[in-house]
Amino acid sequence: MTAASNVEWKTYGDLDYGASHDYARGLQEWALLREHLRQYGLAGHDAALEVGCGGGRLTNAVAQDFATVHACDVAPARLEQVRQIPNAAKVVTHLLTSPILPVEAATVDLCFSTHVMQHISDARVVDRYFAECFRVLRPGGVACIHVPVIGAHHFTGTLGETLKWYGKNAVKAAVLPVTRLLMRGGVKRLPWRIDYYRRFSYAQLLPYLKSLGFADVQLRILDWDDVHSYVFARKPV
Ligand SMILES: C[S@@+](CC[C@H](N)C(=O)[O-])C[C@H]1O[C@@H](n2cnc3c(N)ncnc32)[C@H](O)[C@@H]1O
Repeated sequence: MTAASNVEWKTYGDLDYGASHDYARGLQEWALLREHLRQYGLAGHDAALEVGCGGGRLTNAVAQDFATVHACDVAPARLEQVRQIPNAAKVVTHLLTSPILPVEAATVDLCFSTHVMQHISDARVVDRYFAECFRVLRPGGVACIHVPVIGAHHFTGTLGETLKWYGKNAVKAAVLPVTRLLMRGGVKRLPWRIDYYRRFSYAQLLPYLKSLGFADVQLRILDWDDVHSYVFARKPV
């Protein structure tokens, strides 16, 4: 099982487009998340795993506090970039060819991901990542996954904004297949750059996470970069 959106993200990795290398911002975001994770009760700091590490903006920050960070991405160029980050010595990179996380079950203290799940065009892949996070977490381990919901991440839910959203998505639905076709054919530098984007319903996500076995599921809407929302969930001891 792979998402069609992998095509654009591999290309954008090659072009170094769509992911930040701002390590200072990564440190700031991690400082905020770390404080929330401390409140939430994250205990272990041995191994962390990141789904969709991009250029290593946050990977680098998290590596300050963990013995090992497993950095996973579908784009080979991104993993090459992550191998150059200041804290690279504590990072193990993994190329994902399916939504199976490449570590043993019950070996990770923290699974995290930012600005990734919304870009995956196949909802089954997203669901599988959550299930995989549950599998690889140690009992007591925590998942911290950024998911954009209405009320955060630029979405206020007004009628005008919603209509604009659906209009934009209709255009994307027409242009993305052509974009992917061209990219598959080796045409990388197109005059446009678009990617798939989904918003999440917490009302749907919460029961799904509970059905996987997660406990203490929370949606935290944090004062970060124009308000971001993160799901926190724990694998029971
Ligand atoms: C917008 S960037 C965010 C990078 C990083 N997480 C950050 O916050 O700086 C999205 C990243 O997710 C990766 N990605 C896209 N689809 C993915 C998938 N199905 N599985 C894992 N990573 C994926 C992309 O290659 C890209 O590196």
